[in-house]
Amino acid sequence: MRVRVWSGTVLLWLGMAAGAWAQKSTVDEEGHPWWKHAVFYEIYPRSFADSNNDGVGDLPGITSRLDYLKWLGVDAIWIAPMYPSPEVDWGYDISDYYGVNPDYGMLKDMDALVAAGKERNIRVLLDLVLTYTSDQNKWFQESRSSRTNLKRDWYIWRDGKGPRQPPNNWTSNFGGSAWKYDAPTSQWYYHYFYPPQPNLNWRNPAVEKAMFDVTRWWLKRGVAGFRLDAVDVMFVDAQFRDNPVVGNDKNAFGDPVEREIYDKNQPELHGVLRRLRAVADEFNAVLIGETWTNDIAQLKAYYGEKGNEVNMPMDFMFTTVNKLSAAEFRKQIAWVDGSGGWPVYVMSNHDIRRVYDRYGDGKHNDQIAKLMAALYLTLRGTAVMYYGEEIGMRNNDPKRPEDVKDSMGRLGWPKEKGRDGERTPMQWNASANAGFSDVEPWLPVEEHYKSYNVRNEKSEADSILNYYHSLLTLRHTNKALLEGKYIPLNEDDANVLSYVRSYKGQNVIVVLNMSAAVRKVKLNLAEKGVPAKRARTLLASFATPGEVQTSEISVEPFGAWVGEAE
Ligand code: NOJ
Repeated sequence: MRVRVWSGTVLLWLGMAAGAWAQKSTVDEEGHPWWKHAVFYEIYPRSFADSNNDGVGDLPGITSRLDYLKWLGVDAIWIAPMYPSPEVDWGYDISDYYGVNPDYGMLKDMDALVAAGKERNIRVLLDLVLTYTSDQNKWFQESRSSRTNLKRDWYIWRDGKGPRQPPNNWTSNFGGSAWKYDAPTSQWYYHYFYPPQPNLNWRNPAVEKAMFDVTRWWLKRGVAGFRLDAVDVMFVDAQFRDNPVVGNDKNAFGDPVEREIYDKNQPELHGVLRRLRAVADEFNAVLIGETWTNDIAQLKAYYGEKGNEVNMPMDFMFTTVNKLSAAEFRKQIAWVDGSGGWPVYVMSNHDIRRVYDRYGDGKHNDQIAKLMAALYLTLRGTAVMYYGEEIGMRNNDPKRPEDVKDSMGRLGWPKEKGRDGERTPMQWNASANAGFSDVEPWLPVEEHYKSYNVRNEKSEADSILNYYHSLLTLRHTNKALLEGKYIPLNEDDANVLSYVRSYKGQNVIVVLNMSAAVRKVKLNLAEKGVPAKRARTLLASFATPGEVQTSEISVEPFGAWVGEAE
């Protein structure tokens, strides 16, 4: 008999284990730090929930949605910057590290959010932007005021190479030179990102002290850790050497393409990370790294030689696999899983196009959304979700340059349209503005919100949302999925990615069909030391028997099957 194995059934099977889910203390019963088996969820505060109907999301809005997040299976939220900011880069330009942007509420709202999170066992993490500040920050205002100001050396100031010539050839990630001439003191300051985001000079110990004070201040207020923004560009070469230029091509901003060897990944940053980790450890807090890397060696370095730097360096190489390729994902997983550190998987975020658009083929998009969920939520490691992925939100890119809100899109239009598309309001229901706000939101709601929204999808048994819910429930309660070794299966299969998660004799098998055809998969379990002939379906994204023979598992196009070996 073919049965549908949807959320309800799974919940029933898992009910008994549900008690083990709660992670009240900082270590679980096996001594794992709290964050290791937690599911993190990134919230873009401007777009999550608007409690006061001004078109902009806010902290009380987030608090009002914690019960939803609890139901979904989220253990910790990371809130993108919510500090006072002139918003040239939507919060990543901080003018005061000790407050809350009035658009989002007040300090007491942050305290209330942390307290409400504690009641539900949902931890709250902030975004810590260490590398640069806003040019409106009083530190920079002082620094730029004169060459002899006490904070002059808090930022990176240099003389130009000649009249109107920047100190070297480094380019900004948002286009153009990374140096801006500042007339009052006739010197140039360095900004890896947008000009109003001057980089701090981390070679100055006073900068480290000021930032570690900020860190402690928030940790004492009860936040559970930080996502560390742009740590790779925290230091630049002490000699300010030019980067080598690669070929004659230009990037989307019309700048030469450079090999960023002198403005990125300088070894000194690891010393700061070690000292910052010591601060975080005082509070059992966790550091998540925005760690863009070119290869696995760089990623490994972020964990620290003694595991004493970033607890959770996010693997972004995974997000660069922009097609459904079993071979490519298999290779990437092998790298990260074999790195020696605890893997951290991410599929998208406020800088990366949504999964629905990156992998959707236009015909099987919902299946593909579930497939990708099954991938990153059944691998060995911690998962960092992005709001709205669980309902299949898609990108809503601006159509006209005058609509663009992201500085990157304004500067790069039309080749680079920026990141507004992946930052649109969360879709709560089918009413006007998707239930995000009673008034027109700061970014337009994505047009499919009438069917792709929380309320609607909660009521549809086979929605993307209910699939996520089932998957997270399973993940939280299944030891093999939490802790099991990753064993790749059928490594020659170009269409289907399959693996086992094995823990103390318990084996969970995952089979992910990355193709548009039905695949009959014969798993090479025995040669991998798992001689199981049958398996019980735990969760499938398509109709499938409750028990299958491992000699032939039939998987629908883009289907995801998870079962336990018997
Ligand atoms: C990294 C953030 O994720 C991104 O959104 C921002 O634009 C850059 N830092 C620069 O501030």
